Parts: sequence; C-alpha cells; structure tokens
Amino acid sequence: MNIVAIDGPSGTGKSTTAKMVAEELGYTYLDTGAMYRAIAYLVESGELRVESFQNSQIKLSFDENNQILINGVNRENEIRDPKISAVVSKYSAVPAIREALTAQQREIASAQPCVLDGRDIGTVVFPNAKHKFFLTADYKTRAARRLLELQNAGKAGDETLESVETNLRARDKADSTREVAPLVKAQDAIEIDTSHLTIQEQVQKVLQSVSEAARCNNSLDTTHKG
Ligand code: DC
Repeated sequence: MNIVAIDGPSGTGKSTTAKMVAEELGYTYLDTGAMYRAIAYLVESGELRVESFQNSQIKLSFDENNQILINGVNRENEIRDPKISAVVSKYSAVPAIREALTAQQREIASAQPCVLDGRDIGTVVFPNAKHKFFLTADYKTRAARRLLELQNAGKAGDETLESVETNLRARDKADSTREVAPLVKAQDAIEIDTSHLTIQEQVQKVLQSVSEAARCNNSLDTTHKG
C-alpha cells in the first residue's frame, strides 16, 4: 500500500504540502481535517445530532478539486469558516465520530496510492505507512499563515494575529490531550520544522525523503533476491 502520511498542527503547511506532493507523485490527496470539519458543520447547522451520528446516512466525498461534498453538495466554503475552526476539536474528540471517519479514510486510501494529511494518520489510521512526516512551525508563523489564508478567502472578519493564535493554541491543546487518537508525532515520522521554509522547500524535503526510502527499499529487495 502506497501511503504518505503528513501529520501536524494547523498552519504548518500540511495541506498545501500534501496536495503538491500528491500531484507530483500522481497519488490521490485526502484531506482528513475536512471530514472532521464537515461533521462539525452539520452539527452546528442543526442537520445532525452527535448522539444519532452512528445511525445517520451522511455521505462525505471530494470533487476533482479536492473540495468536500456533503451528501453530494459542495460545502467547502462553510467548513472553512472560523466559526467551524473554533468548535471542530470538540467533535473530533468524539470516539464514534473518529471511528467512522477513520474507517472511511482507510477504505479510500486502501483503494489507491494516497497522500493523507491530518493529526493521527501515522499513528492510528495507517501506523504501517511507508512514509510518515510530522510538520511543525512556531506559533507566530502559523498564525500569520492562517490569517493570510482567511484574508485571501475573504473570511478574516474581525480576526487578528492574536485571535488566530489563541484559536491555534486552544485547538492544539484540545487535539493533543484528547483520549482517542491525540495529535502526537509517530515515533518513526520525519519531523520537518517549516517555520523558515517555503512551500516549495517543504515539498522538496518530503519528495526527497520518499524517493530515498523507495531507492533504499529497491536495493534491499535486490540484496534479498541476489
Ligand atoms: O487540518 P484542519 O485544521 O482542517 O483540521 C480540523 C480539525 O480536525 C483539527 O482541529 C483536528 C481535527 N482532525 C483530527 O482530529 N484528526 C485528523 N486526522 C484531522 C483533523
């Protein structure tokens, strides 16, 4: 199974990196955070109750631009709203929600070579993934990136560097202290601090390490055969 797992907190450039790496390798990109955001959006908009989540018939999928479809309807704009960012950790800590989304992620990525980004890909979803990365960056850099992203999407509203940083810190705390599948670096993941890297540089680091590992595997295969 060809899996590239890219974990780490928000604002470290995970999704942009994962998307570009997937494109370069010809793999499918799976944004697992978007799936948790979709559930948060459904609950917040009153379309779903957490208690009845297991019996619901929600279908999550992605269109050709990697935008999320909830029951066939594009909700990319809604799930990126800062109001959803502020509450998503509450829902991503619910075991039944994690269990269902993890199963769905495994199903999608078992059918095709995939680059997945998230918080628990290398630890829980695919602990045997061939390639694991854990991206980090300092808070000032992460907040600046997130704010710019919101401004570019016309979603910044009253947000400031301080309010974005406060949300990032709160989410990191919730994501890394929850009982099920907390945000932690897998022991065998390669850590990349992206604070002073451009997106191109971080993509290159990931691609380089993937191709080195593939070369190493090939030569091990030859040694075994030989
Ligand atoms: O990557 P993101 O900011 O879109 O993720 C949104 C939230 O979903 C994040 O606060 C934590 C949660 N998440 C998770 O718990 N597990 C994942 N594999 C992906 C995201």
